[in-house]
Amino acid sequence: MSQVTIVEVAPRDGFQSVKEFIPTETKIKIVEALAATGVPRMEIGSFVSPKAIPQMADTAEVLKRARLPATLRTHVLVPNRKGLELAKAAGVKEVCWVLSVSESHNQSNVRRSVDQSFADFEEAWKEQGEGLKLRFALATSFDCPFEGRTPEARVIACVERVLKIVDELEISIADTTGRAAPNHVRGLFSTLVRNYGSDKVQFSFHGHDTYNLGVANAIAAYEAGVRIIDGAAAGLGGCPFAPGATGNTATEDLVFAFEHMGISTGIDFAKLLEAADMVQAVAPSQAGGRVRTVSRQRALAGFGENTRGLPPEVAACA
Ligand code: COA
Ligand code: ZN
Repeated sequence: MSQVTIVEVAPRDGFQSVKEFIPTETKIKIVEALAATGVPRMEIGSFVSPKAIPQMADTAEVLKRARLPATLRTHVLVPNRKGLELAKAAGVKEVCWVLSVSESHNQSNVRRSVDQSFADFEEAWKEQGEGLKLRFALATSFDCPFEGRTPEARVIACVERVLKIVDELEISIADTTGRAAPNHVRGLFSTLVRNYGSDKVQFSFHGHDTYNLGVANAIAAYEAGVRIIDGAAAGLGGCPFAPGATGNTATEDLVFAFEHMGISTGIDFAKLLEAADMVQAVAPSQAGGRVRTVSRQRALAGFGENTRGLPPEVAACA
């Protein structure tokens, strides 16, 4: 059976979008419930300035106290050297370093030019990166809330730039605003995977569902060869420094879509729906996603049934 790796990002992108502080205890319970769904990877918090995002101030505490299965791969987001140092001090083995392809979003998000962010990364990674796994996230790879559509050449230039610094990593291509269309996603990933993808360089897709294109975009990425896709349970999420951006594509919608296409996620769908309800409870008015609006019995009964009895080449649908 074909497979896709879902990365659950509600405990970072989801939580960071919530203004009112979510008690650490609640965060831990949700992280544990999400882990119990069998999701293979999770982004748990970030080490960023607590003045920029107060919600993330307890990341070290969440990491320390959450009881997680040994099989779960986790990472945290960092925007600078200090974040990298704090992550290492917290015992983290994998980080996601973020910068934006567009100048104005990078300024808004991390108060640096893209050049400065690359220089910061190069210096910090050479000194501190040893032994760490790297996911390098390129925010606003499709669209910038201030500049509009991002030229593909700018994304490619950023990919080439990071590959000059690190030769083994995952590059997360992010649709920060959710404005990408499936042909845009398919086109950019086809180029990136063909020209830069290898055993050492993998691409992943981080999408938002602002315009209801999140699932279609994830499928387009898959069809272009991407096998690592981010989602946030209950569709929570959004960069506080990207005006108009709402939640990530809901993990449960992605899981339903992929399993329905005969592409395995390894996730227990019933448990995921329960965990997504817990995520929704922290910020009901900000939650989204479609699958949880269907009666639970119907969603579970029809889960993946489209693939039963189909010939493998149809079921794989790659
Ligand atoms: N973790 C914790 N604290 C940090 C930090 C980090 N990674 N980086 C900086 N700080 C602290 C500094 O120690 C300093 O504290 P002080 O005022 O008590 O001395 C303060 O934050 C300001 O530091 P400075 O280096 O001047 O940063 P800045 O004000 O220019 O802000 C960032 C730059 C990158 C730290 C900030 O914009 C940020 O955290 N952005 C992250 C945004 C984000 O998470 N977006 C969503 C995810 S894409
Ligand atoms: Zn995001």
